[in-house]
Amino acid sequence: MSSASRRKVLLMGKSGSGKTSMRSVIFSNYTAKDTRRLGATIDVEQSAVRLLGSLVLNLWDCGGQDAFLDNYLSAQRDTVFSNVAVLIYVFDITSTEWEKDLHYFEDNVTALRENSSEAGVWVLINKMDLVDKDDPKRVKYADYCEQVRALNARVSADEPAAGSLRCFPTSIWDESLYKAWSSVIHTLIPNIDLITTHLNFMRDLLGAAECVVFEAETFLAMAKSGSPIDCDPSELEDVEVARGVPHLDRQRFEKISEIVKSFRKTCQRTGEVFTGFETAFDGLCVVLEPMSKNTYILVVSVDPRVREYPPFDSSSH
Ligand code: GTP
Repeated sequence: MSSASRRKVLLMGKSGSGKTSMRSVIFSNYTAKDTRRLGATIDVEQSAVRLLGSLVLNLWDCGGQDAFLDNYLSAQRDTVFSNVAVLIYVFDITSTEWEKDLHYFEDNVTALRENSSEAGVWVLINKMDLVDKDDPKRVKYADYCEQVRALNARVSADEPAAGSLRCFPTSIWDESLYKAWSSVIHTLIPNIDLITTHLNFMRDLLGAAECVVFEAETFLAMAKSGSPIDCDPSELEDVEVARGVPHLDRQRFEKISEIVKSFRKTCQRTGEVFTGFETAFDGLCVVLEPMSKNTYILVVSVDPRVREYPPFDSSSH
């Protein structure tokens, strides 16, 4: 394995914000409920995750207790913040110490820019399930993002090559977690543009509405035909309608990730092997099949002939 395919991902944020929970749900098949038994992370827990066969993520889950945070910023500064591809910084929306949390974030981004100026920064504002729609904290999400963006812009002002900052609201209890992590991981895939080109070719060849690639273990959406996986879905809708594609659910990728992962867990419990599915609704035919050892492909078709194919044999799936 060449070193070029190893990417260091820092997972940081205050203690209890949900870093290890996220990692465990995405990479270790934990359910949200399972994470209740996780203990606090002591210092840095490193793990290597292989994706798509040739991409290795070196995940540094940095325990968030104050003493550890201070140590990362002093004695361990160069070790922790050098050669970073992505910093994922997790905030807890229910925190009562926002100013202090923001201050820690600033210190971390400053250390990051000194040691890994080009790294991308993903800010996940977590535990959104604990605030309902009318709660001022949910309304505050946009305001928090603005503050984080402004702070990052100030800290990174002297770094013209500084990577971008993306903000996502997340919860380990719903599909929002998959959207955020899919956005992170797809930027680390070296040949993502080529994969998108191939998906466009495949979509046109099949006369399909959409082709999407999922990573087989995590079931994160990696790439889709037409546009980057993390672009704003509202920007695409006019283009899609012009191509004869009906309005598709904006959260479809992360919902599929979550549904397939929990269904696969059920299959494991009952001794079945999950290999894919096929379904038809609202004039669409949707097929999910293994594409390679490390990927699944989802094809969404609006071609009525596709629905005339022999019915799917669910007994073998
Ligand atoms: P340190 O290891 O001390 O840095 O903490 P951490 O950031 O890794 O937090 P951890 O993942 O251990 O989560 C702390 C608690 O928060 C656990 O009981 C999780 O179940 C809970 N938790 C994590 N994410 C969420 C979430 O999105 N919603 C809710 N309601 N609880 C969450």
